Amino acid sequence: MYFSESPWRCGKFCFCQRQNVTSISYFAFMNKIILITGATSGIGKACATKFAAAKSDVIITGRRNERLDELKAQLENDYGINVLPLCFDVQDREAVNAAFANLPAQWQKIDVLINNAGLAIGRDSFEDADMNDWETMLNTNVHGLLYVSKAVLPYMLAQQKGHIVNMGSVAGKEVYEKGNVYCAGKFAVDAITKAMRIDLLKNNIKVTGIHPGAVETEFSVVRFKGDEVAAKAAYTGLTPLTASDIADTVFYCVNLPAHVCINDLVITCTQQAGTYYFYRKP
Ligand SMILES: NC(=O)c1ccc[n+]([C@@H]2O[C@H](COP(=O)([O-])OP(=O)(O)OC[C@H]3O[C@@H](n4cnc5c(N)ncnc54)[C@H](OP(=O)(O)O)[C@@H]3O)[C@@H](O)[C@H]2O)c1
Repeated sequence: MYFSESPWRCGKFCFCQRQNVTSISYFAFMNKIILITGATSGIGKACATKFAAAKSDVIITGRRNERLDELKAQLENDYGINVLPLCFDVQDREAVNAAFANLPAQWQKIDVLINNAGLAIGRDSFEDADMNDWETMLNTNVHGLLYVSKAVLPYMLAQQKGHIVNMGSVAGKEVYEKGNVYCAGKFAVDAITKAMRIDLLKNNIKVTGIHPGAVETEFSVVRFKGDEVAAKAAYTGLTPLTASDIADTVFYCVNLPAHVCINDLVITCTQQAGTYYFYRKP
């Protein structure tokens, strides 16, 4: 592809002369509004960066305000797009509703919602697991996803179009030892994704479930409660997926023609098949 002027350097309102165009994928996202929950780290941050690079405006959310501010400054500076940071805990229904009820008018035409915020806490056998960990996982991964979806949907219904991408997991396809309630939550995400897809068909809203295997992010550090050694061990002998691999996948799904919808996508690194089978190099 050849551009008479680099589209990455000329700001949001550029009208670059394209010549010899072989793909419209990047221009398809210009001035779109992409909302990404859990954008302060890992997959969410990579998605925010990917879409910002494609000249979309992005709404980024998370609980760590300073990280949101840093990312806003970085993306606006690097890509000349607009970023709206919203700091709230997805477990807090009132906070979620307040964040979206007060959305400035220019941010209301949300094209894509990426329900990514989530976590695993603990890797314990059922009888040993902590009920607080279980509640946090269900409140975040299931209730949080529902709260955000319900708060954002009216904006998509008003436009009679949109795309919701729910971040599931291979843990939502196959239960594994000591995965108990994390798996249960991600099974729920899978079911909710299918239910949304069916119920929102009439509204021209696409719904896609992405189900990654091991991705090296802060996920394992959170799961093992700050134990960096245990977190690192999860990836021993593997070349795991990166957050960018998942962002690229989400971008692909969202970039398909209007009549095409990927419903469900499982993605692992080459050395992983399902939740149990890994080939770890010695
Ligand atoms: N990494 C993997 O191996 C893997 C595999 C399959 C699926 N997934 C899924 O992918 C998603 C992203 O995970 P990741 O790997 O990118 O992990 P990560 O690096 O730990 O990022 C998790 C993100 O979720 C946000 N978050 C967590 N709890 C939240 C809450 N209560 N309210 C608002 N935001 C919250 C975090 O932001 P704050 O802390 O700033 O709130 C952070 O931005 C999760 O849904 C996870 O289950 C991950």
